Amino acid sequence: MKKSFLLLFAFTLTVNAKGFNPQMQQYINQLKSQAQKEKSGFTDFNAKRGQKIFTSVHIGKRGKNISCSSCHSINLQQTGKNIHTGKLIKPLSPFANTKRLSKVKDVKKWLRRNFNDVYKREGSAMEKGDVLYYINSAK
Ligand code: HEC
Repeated sequence: MKKSFLLLFAFTLTVNAKGFNPQMQQYINQLKSQAQKEKSGFTDFNAKRGQKIFTSVHIGKRGKNISCSSCHSINLQQTGKNIHTGKLIKPLSPFANTKRLSKVKDVKKWLRRNFNDVYKREGSAMEKGDVLYYINSAK
């Protein structure tokens, strides 16, 4: 009982601080050093830039206008809907869905797929980092 309370407390602190878990932080650090190589003068990722990447509309893989928000909705606290399959998608914001941005393997896989859907290419390290900062702060 006491232990679970402490865990919950620690967890609440992490979420309030918008921190990434250690595994995810390690991935963010990798992206940072990649971004430094891609762009001189790079200092840190930026949620505002991430929001733009997330909400801007592009002609996607299937030749139609699409954005990340098309499936995940504009409000990341809300349930989204896959525009291709009609399946519901649980909220992307870790504030609404604590499982989000917790497993590096899943995050990498879906970023690769989803950037392809919208941008018809993989995201750069900078784009991925920006978008992860945005999702992690989307209240
Ligand atoms: C065609 C619909 C669609 C589009 C467009 C889309 N996604 Fe997704 N996304 C999904 C589905 C489906 C999943 C996996 C199901 C789930 O996790 O609920 C997913 C999962 C994710 C995850 C995994 C999160 C986690 O930790 O579980 C991230 C991150 C993500 N998407 C980001 C993006 C970004 C960034 C874009 C725009 C570049 C984007 N998505 C565009 C459908 C989409």
